[in-house]
Amino acid sequence: MSDLSHLGSRQHGVERSWQQYREACEVLPWGTGTSSKRPAAALADDQPAQLDRARGSRVWDVDGNEYIDFRLGCGPITLGYGHPLVDQAAKEQMDRGVLTSLPVDLERRVAKLLTELVPCAEMARFFKGGGEAMYAATRVARHFTRRDRVVTCGYHGWHLTMDDTQPQAVRALFTDLPYGRTDAFAEYLKAYGQETACVCISGDYGALRPGDPFLADVRELTQRHGALLVVDEIVTGFRVRRGGIHEYFGVMPDLAAFAKGIANGYPLSAVVGRREIMEQWPMISITYGGEAVSLAAAEVVLGIYRDQDVIGRLWLLAERLQVGVNEVAARRGIPFRMHGLPVCPMMGFAADAEGGDRSRPASTRRDPAGYQTELFRGLYRRGIIPFPVMYESLAHTDEEMDYAVAAFDESLQEAYRS
Ligand SMILES: Cc1ncc(COP(=O)(O)O)c(C=O)c1O
Repeated sequence: MSDLSHLGSRQHGVERSWQQYREACEVLPWGTGTSSKRPAAALADDQPAQLDRARGSRVWDVDGNEYIDFRLGCGPITLGYGHPLVDQAAKEQMDRGVLTSLPVDLERRVAKLLTELVPCAEMARFFKGGGEAMYAATRVARHFTRRDRVVTCGYHGWHLTMDDTQPQAVRALFTDLPYGRTDAFAEYLKAYGQETACVCISGDYGALRPGDPFLADVRELTQRHGALLVVDEIVTGFRVRRGGIHEYFGVMPDLAAFAKGIANGYPLSAVVGRREIMEQWPMISITYGGEAVSLAAAEVVLGIYRDQDVIGRLWLLAERLQVGVNEVAARRGIPFRMHGLPVCPMMGFAADAEGGDRSRPASTRRDPAGYQTELFRGLYRRGIIPFPVMYESLAHTDEEMDYAVAAFDESLQEAYRS
C-alpha cells in the first residue's frame, strides 16, 4: 500500500491546470476535441482540468498531483498507459514509415488477428474513430440491402447523432430505440421492416446482465425482416469479451464495429463482419486506413489478448471494485449501486437509477440530484480519476481496487450528507 499512501493527501491545488484549460478555450471550442474530457465547472477546486502524463494505471495533472485513473482515455487503455511492448512496436514502426503509398502487410496481419479473435469477424476494414466505423457500417448495410432506414440504440458517435446538425430528411430515416425493449423493435420493424437496412445496438452498460435474451431477440427480428444486425462493440469489445457483447450473449451479428480495446490508445477502429457483406464493400475509403503505427500497436495488443487472459483479469479487478463499492453503500444505507456487468458498470444514484439518457455518451448524461458531482469531488480529492463507467486496465492492482473502495465509501458518505 506504500505507493498509495500519498494519493489521498494532495500536495498541490489544481489552479494551473484550470488556467491552462481556460487558455485552451480561447482557441479550441469546448477547450478539447473530446466532449467527455471537459472538466466540470462545478468541480473547479477539485478536478484537474488538464493532465501532464500517464503511466500504467496512474496519471499526473499539470499541477503535479498523482491519481489512479479509472477513465483510461475514455476506455481504450485496456493494458495500461505506456505498455512497453506496444509502445516499442509503435516506435519501431515510426522508423519504418507512418503512412506509405501502397499497403503494408501489417494491415492484413491485424485484420487476420481480428478474424481469429472476434466470433463475427470474417473480414475487417480499418478506420480511425469509433463513430466513423459505425457510420461506415450503416452505409455498408444500406449498400448491401438497398434500403434506407437505420435503427440505432444508444450512443454510436457523432456521425449517427441525430440532432439539428443533420438535415431533416436524414433524421427522418433514423430511429433510436431503447435497449432491452424488444417490443419497440418488433413494432418498428413491423411497420418499416421492408425499408430497414440495419439495426445498430450498443450495450446499455447499466442494463447488461447474464442470460438476457434481448440481443438474440433482435437478431431473430432482423433476420425475419431482412435487415442487418450491427453490434457496436466500441466499448464492449476487448473488455466484456474479446468479441464484446455478441460473444458474451452468443449472438452472431452481420457486422460489428470495434475501436477502444484494439490498440491501447493508438487511433484505430474497425468494421468487421460476414464475408458475403464485406466482399461487397462500397466506395468507403480513408487516407489513413493503412496508417502503420496504430496497426503495429494493434498487432501487439491483439497478440497479448490472444496469448493472455486479459479479459479474465479485467473481470476480477472490476468485480472487486463493484462488489466492494456496493457492499459499503449498502452497509451505510446509501441508495447508490454500480449495476450492469462489472467491466463496464453504470453508476445508479437514487434519483437517476436508470443511468440517464442513453442517446448521449455516458459521461455527458445529466446528473439531476448532483450526487455524481459530489461523489466525484470526493474521489478527485482522494487521488482518483472517476468516470460514469469505471474502467480498469491490466496495469491496475488489487490494492488499487481496495483503495478505490475505501475512497468511494468516504466520498459517498460526503455526497449523500451534502
Ligand atoms: C458505444 C460507443 N459507440 C461509438 C462511440 C464513438 O467513438 P469515437 O468517439 O471514437 O468516434 C463511442 C464513444 O464513446 C461509444 O461509447
